[in-house]
Amino acid sequence: LNNGLARTPQMGSVSEIPLFLHGLRVSRSPTSSWSEVDFCYVGTLWNSWNFFACNIDETVIKETADALVSSGLAALGYNYVNIDDCWSSSSRNQQGNLVPDPKTFSSGIKALADYVHLKGLKLGIYSDAGAFTCQVRPGSLYHESDDAKTFASWGVDYLKYDNCYNLGIKPEKRYPPMRDALNSTGHAIFYSLCEWGVDDPALWAGKVGNSWRTTDDISDSWESMITIADINDKWASYAGPGGWNDPDMLEVGNGGMTYAEYRSHFSIWALMKAPLLVGCDVRNMTAETLEILSNKEVIAVNQDPLGIQGRKIYSQGNDGCSQVWAGPLSESRVVVALWNRCSEVVTITVSWEILGLDIAASFSLRDIWKHDTLQAEVIGNFSTEAVQRTEVADAKGAEEHSYHILTLQSMNSL
Ligand code: DGJ
Repeated sequence: LNNGLARTPQMGSVSEIPLFLHGLRVSRSPTSSWSEVDFCYVGTLWNSWNFFACNIDETVIKETADALVSSGLAALGYNYVNIDDCWSSSSRNQQGNLVPDPKTFSSGIKALADYVHLKGLKLGIYSDAGAFTCQVRPGSLYHESDDAKTFASWGVDYLKYDNCYNLGIKPEKRYPPMRDALNSTGHAIFYSLCEWGVDDPALWAGKVGNSWRTTDDISDSWESMITIADINDKWASYAGPGGWNDPDMLEVGNGGMTYAEYRSHFSIWALMKAPLLVGCDVRNMTAETLEILSNKEVIAVNQDPLGIQGRKIYSQGNDGCSQVWAGPLSESRVVVALWNRCSEVVTITVSWEILGLDIAASFSLRDIWKHDTLQAEVIGNFSTEAVQRTEVADAKGAEEHSYHILTLQSMNSL
C-alpha cells in the first residue's frame, strides 16, 4: 500500500548491484546510499491479544508502554503499543461514533495516545471489517469514514482490522474502503489487515494494506507455530517494503513452548520478514524471554533494508523435517536457518548450490544466537549437526541446538 508507511522510495542516483538467491534476482543500491534513505521496515510491536485477550484496560496499556521502555525493547525498535479487541463500548454513541468502554478506558483513547506518544511510542487500535468485532463490539463496515476520522482525532498510529461478522462479503470488497478512509484523514496510520488468509490476500492486499494475515490465529504450541510458518512461506514472493505477509503475532514468552522452540519461532519469523508483534506480558517477562526478543542480530535480519522474505529452500527426511530456510540480506549477506523438526539428531548440509550462489564464492559464517563467527572463510558448503528439539528443552546455554541461524557474509561482492 502506497501510503508512505512501511515503504520509502530510494533517493539519489543508484547503480544497481544484482544479487541472486535461489533463482531470485534482487537489485539493490550500494551500501553507501542506505544511510541517506529513511526506510520504513516491517514493524516491531506489541499487541494485547495473545496474552490478555479481553482482559485489558488503560492501566495494562500504560504499564506495557512503561515496560517496553524500561526493558530496553522500545530502544530496539518495538515501538507500537497495539490495543486489540474489547477496548470499545458495546454500542456507538448518539452521534454514531465509536466510544471506549467507560469502565476500562475511562480516560479515553486520546489521553492514552498522548501518554504513549510522550514515551516516544506509537498507539495502535483495532476494529473489524464487519458488523461487529469478534468479541461483539461495534464493527466499522459502512462506518469507515467516521471511524477513521475518530481514530485520527485520537492520534492513533496503527489500525488492525479484523474479519468477523462480515455478512458474507468478500474481503477484497470490505478492506479497501477503510484504506481510503484512513488515507483521507491526512494522518499516517499503518493499516494491518486481519482477514485470516481468506481469499489469498497476498494476491490482492499489496494495494490495500501494509500487512495482511496469511493464516488463522496462532496458538502457543510448536505444532501451530510450524504449520503457520509453512503456510506463510507460500506467499514469500509477494512481501516487500510497503506490504508484508503476517503469520500472526509472536507467542514468545507465553509458556507453551520451550526456550529452544521460542528461539526457533523468533528466528523463522525474523527470516520471513514477519511483523515482530510481541504477544506476551512485557511487564513480567523472564530473562529468557527478554533475551530472545532483544537479540539485535536476529532483529536486524528482520529489519534488513532489502526487505526480502526468506523461504524454505530445502527439506528432506520424514515429512521433510530436516530443513534449510534462507534469504538474501543487504551488504552481500545471506541469512540461513538450518532447522531440525525431526525426532532424531540430523546433520544438515547447506551447499552454495542449493542457495543459488556461486559455488566458488567464499563466505564467513556467523551464528547470530551465539554472536560469534563460526568459520572465517568457507567455500562450497557447510554442515552442522542439529539435535531434535525435545533434547534441547530449556537447554539454555547448552551447545546443542535444534536449529542454527547464521548469516553468511560474502568475502567478495556478490
Ligand atoms: C481474531 C484475530 O485473528 C485475533 O488476532 C484477535 O484480534 C481476535 N480476533 C480478537 O477478537
